[in-house]
Amino acid sequence: MSNKENSSIGVVLVGFGLIVVLIGAIYSLTVARFQGTGVDEGGIADRIAPIGKVEVATAIQEKATPAETSAAEPGVAEEAPAADPAAAAASSGGQEIYSKTCIACHASGAAGAPKLGDKAAWEPRIAQGMDALMTTVLNGKNAMPPRGTCMTCSDDELRAAVDYMISQSQ
Ligand code: HEC
Repeated sequence: MSNKENSSIGVVLVGFGLIVVLIGAIYSLTVARFQGTGVDEGGIADRIAPIGKVEVATAIQEKATPAETSAAEPGVAEEAPAADPAAAAASSGGQEIYSKTCIACHASGAAGAPKLGDKAAWEPRIAQGMDALMTTVLNGKNAMPPRGTCMTCSDDELRAAVDYMISQSQ
């Protein structure tokens, strides 16, 4: 009884093992091959692509915010000159630039700079006219550095600063 059971169990196990091996072989010869080619060419790409697209899309969107602003900057910059003269005309821009950069020399009269409020020093300079003063400011002259060292200042902003200095020195 036990011998028969053992042998029948052995047959079942061997048969089962063969089936498993056969299924494995068939699987590896068919499905795995299809996966080997199909998955490589389409399956993985298809599965990765949506994930990749989503991530790229979000990455682009995340980057697009600063990129859009920087891309929009030329547009803003194009609008800026229209806005800047208005700000400069408010003369606070000129005073701001003077306080940030020009003050370094023009408050003390360092290196022969005409002092703010020194009417005698400014009178002959003002007499040259704005164009001559702006030529000096933009290009520099003697100890006066080009653009008064404010390389980020626009011409209009520098002109506003000169306007402010003149208004304080007449
Ligand atoms: C490093 C010191 C220094 C700084 C900073 C400086 N200046 Fe001057 N500036 C001078 C000196 C020196 C002169 C006199 C130059 C001369 O006539 O020899 C001068 C002259 C000028 C004049 C008279 C120019 C002329 O033709 O007579 C103007 C206007 C002027 N500066 C504007 C500015 C403005 C605007 C700024 C800030 C954006 C500025 N400066 C920043 C040193 C400076």
